[in-house]
Amino acid sequence: MMDILRQIQLLRDEINQHNTHYYVQDNPVVADIEYDQLMRKLEKLEMENPKLITPDSPTQRIGAAPLSEFQSLVHRLPMLSLANAMNEDELIEFDNQVKKRLGVEAEIEYAAEPKLDGLAVELVFEEGIFTHGSTRGDGTTGEDITQNLKTIRAIPLSLLKNAPIPHILEVRGEVFITHSDFKKMNEQRLEKGEQPFANPRNCAAGSLRQLDSSITAQRPLRIYCYAPGLIEGATYSSQKELLETFPKWGLPVNPKIEFGKGVNFLLGYYEKAEKFRTELEYDIDGVVFKVNSFAYQDELGVRSRSPRWAIAGKLKSQQVTTKILNIEVSLGRTGAVTPVAKLEPVSVGGVVVSNATLHNQDEIDRKDVRIGDTVLIQRAGDVIPEVVKVILEKRPKGSLPFTLPNNCPVCSHEVFRPEGEVVARCQNMECPAQVKGRIEHFVSKGCMDIDGFGTKLVDQLVEKKLMKNVAEIYSLNLEQLSELERMAEKSAQNILESINTSKSTTMARFVHGLGIRNVGEHASKVLEKSFSGNLENLMDAGIEALTAIHEIGGIMAESIVNFFQDDTNQKVIKACLKAGIQFEVVEQIQESEFTGKTFVFTGSLEKFSRKDAQSMVEKLGARASGSVSSKTDYVVAGPGAGSKLGKAKDLEITILTEDDFLELIGK
Ligand code: IVH
Repeated sequence: MMDILRQIQLLRDEINQHNTHYYVQDNPVVADIEYDQLMRKLEKLEMENPKLITPDSPTQRIGAAPLSEFQSLVHRLPMLSLANAMNEDELIEFDNQVKKRLGVEAEIEYAAEPKLDGLAVELVFEEGIFTHGSTRGDGTTGEDITQNLKTIRAIPLSLLKNAPIPHILEVRGEVFITHSDFKKMNEQRLEKGEQPFANPRNCAAGSLRQLDSSITAQRPLRIYCYAPGLIEGATYSSQKELLETFPKWGLPVNPKIEFGKGVNFLLGYYEKAEKFRTELEYDIDGVVFKVNSFAYQDELGVRSRSPRWAIAGKLKSQQVTTKILNIEVSLGRTGAVTPVAKLEPVSVGGVVVSNATLHNQDEIDRKDVRIGDTVLIQRAGDVIPEVVKVILEKRPKGSLPFTLPNNCPVCSHEVFRPEGEVVARCQNMECPAQVKGRIEHFVSKGCMDIDGFGTKLVDQLVEKKLMKNVAEIYSLNLEQLSELERMAEKSAQNILESINTSKSTTMARFVHGLGIRNVGEHASKVLEKSFSGNLENLMDAGIEALTAIHEIGGIMAESIVNFFQDDTNQKVIKACLKAGIQFEVVEQIQESEFTGKTFVFTGSLEKFSRKDAQSMVEKLGARASGSVSSKTDYVVAGPGAGSKLGKAKDLEITILTEDDFLELIGK
């Protein structure tokens, strides 16, 4: 029992360490897969020993029963809001007021922080354990969203002990979603026929307000902590001291926060923020300046709702108004019909915008967007600009609500919106827009990677009826290509050559290229591995065989089976293979005495590279991990091995030299 307890504790420590590396230090040391494996190991051990489960175990982030409503929670100290400075003059005035009230001449020390555009929350830790969390609400009372906050991996369930831990620690911070996570998530939602989120803030807010925390757990939420609430059992003298302590407890702090003195520091940061704003991975709507010393903060006190010791510097708006000239409908390769507003071009935050997405019919209805309307649009990071709202006062007389056409604008075939889905799709598989989309996807870099096969070429080939499916790429000839516009014989020759070269590929690239709904690059790789590069076996696989694969879910399995059952698809695939497409051989994973074992390579390796080491152990059905734990079976130590070797010795794990390793695996 002692041994299992120790194993469990080591695993928990290891997982918590990875969270800190990832979210606090922004420096992950293992791949997601490895992290997942550690979690699964821990889950298994805990399942076998339920008595050893503690509320702060990383496994306890998910699985709470759905609520019927949120309870309200009164903040022990109110969560205040901030007064605004609209320009530099108002910042200068703020600094003057601070000095005047404090009666000091010397320059004041300030903290300068990005003002994240997410959702403010309060986290409560009692004796280092995360016990409660709430929304800001009206500042006095918020909603108890403890079980949702627990799913956020960036929030430690128990504080790390790298600094003394107060009896009670309340921490305020902002929950947000990065642009890239947001984009990824919306793409996945669209693929599944779900409604995309309007912007990262809405998505973060919506995710935190889920009554079922298993939904929140699927959302890529992050947090930066920036302020104290009530603290009992320890004192801190300044914002700087506190923010330097947060990471020691495993609480993430925005690396963009700076400290400095006097009004020039305020003005300098304000100017800088305008520039770095566009490079950030998340949205901000301003900057926050705070008097650094807590003694000064107390002395300055608060007005009714906002402190006198802090101010928000507003940045130039990323929102502007413009007019909708027209609403066009664009068609994706899956036949998805997306309404796009054509705008009177307007500059937003230095970028000229002339299109905005309207997402789908539901969104158009909800905002009642019409052609001719004057609208407020917003641009956020690299997200496609969107319409925030209609300025109704400016609506021209006689305008009509906009409805998406019932027929495809490209092929006139019927457009169908399945019940419960928000996306309407053209039902004609041979719709030129879909055919073009599918071919463009097939030849793209991440798929068959056919050099020189660009959009213009695809457009012409489809319009001239030279191609209606991807297999026909392989029957194109020099004569056909040379006759196309702006196509010299030399370029035609080059394209034929790239087509030929692209025939030696991998099964993953080919499967990805087929454009099966819900099957992206990663899933294609998983399928390749699971079917050892055998496409026929994949084509014959049923739902059960597919869902048995880790990472392949029900929805994906269903689209795969549907896709391969289709006669046309089968014909296209056969034709591709007949044209000479060949897959790299995927080495079969052999059952061996090493199947399921874990190796850690440490120190500088001299006989082989880390990559080779990894592929050698994977071929044996074993895996290579980045860190030593109780579940490590072998540590291979090269010269200069340090702490990992030490840990391996402590845990009495078999230690090998590089030569020992090669001998062991029979090389
Ligand atoms: S300090 C009195 N710091 O701004 C201190 N707030 O208007 C108030 N916010 O609801 C909070 N980034 O959601 C503070 N670095 C930051 C912030 C920040 C974003 C938000 C927060 C709060 C609002 C205050």
